[in-house]
Amino acid sequence: MALVTAKELLLSRPPGQAVGAFNVHNMEDVQGVVWAAEELGTPVIVMASESALKYAGVPYIAQLVRTAAEAVSIPIALQLDHGSSFEIAKACIECGFTSVMIDGSRLPFAENAALTRQVVELAHAHGVSVEAELGRVGGKEDDLEVAAQDAFLTNPDEAVEFVRQTGIDVLAPAIGTVHGLYKGEPKLDFARLREIARRVDVPLVLHGGSDLPVDALQEAIRCGIAKVNIGTDLKYAVTNGVRAYLKENPEEYEPRKVFAAGREAAKQLVMEKLRILSREAV
Ligand code: G3H
Ligand code: ZN
Repeated sequence: MALVTAKELLLSRPPGQAVGAFNVHNMEDVQGVVWAAEELGTPVIVMASESALKYAGVPYIAQLVRTAAEAVSIPIALQLDHGSSFEIAKACIECGFTSVMIDGSRLPFAENAALTRQVVELAHAHGVSVEAELGRVGGKEDDLEVAAQDAFLTNPDEAVEFVRQTGIDVLAPAIGTVHGLYKGEPKLDFARLREIARRVDVPLVLHGGSDLPVDALQEAIRCGIAKVNIGTDLKYAVTNGVRAYLKENPEEYEPRKVFAAGREAAKQLVMEKLRILSREAV
């Protein structure tokens, strides 16, 4: 199928389920994610961070994901993840991304809203949907690092105002998750999430979806989360898959065999997560 927007996938998701969104870096990641989704018959969002796009190149990722999506029968969206500037959002829109996330969460409210509004205007003129972050998710994702003392949770009144001022399609609130692995037990503010979901009329995203217990993920979905972002768990799965293969086959030098092990590990991880998000595994 041709790529669709993340907005479309989120608005048409089955009740009580969330759509999985996975960070990719190369062809094997893309195939692992898309093939897992195809096997389960579940739509999926493929995301690339700015660092991943710097590594692979915006057109390479765009073409890889478009090619993978056209070969399957389930709808796939391609999204820029944590774009820090209007320029990177524009580059992705021009290369055929169907969704962009503009992350102005480091900025004061008014500046975040102004930057987001600017991206929304361009994106909507091209039929591209926009996600933005309000509050600040802590932790480390690729080159983006937010120290614990700089992270803060989303104020529900501000969330209402932010959506109104910007015209975004999807909101990423900060409710206590962090990017990367958790130090200690994750503490999610579900009451805050419920209030934001009740007062804001766009789908909500859970960032920092890796390393969370199944119960926490499923409770977040019950409280109104429509999209769950998973990056770190996929990185570990791929790298551990390659590592295990090389441990068993230390003399192997055929890249196809080595990287296929990573691709298979990616596929298994994505299938496991998609089952949790569709609440099959309770
Ligand atoms: O935007 C991407 C996600 O928030 C990834 O977070 O690496 O903790 O899964 P994670
Ligand atoms: Zn994130």
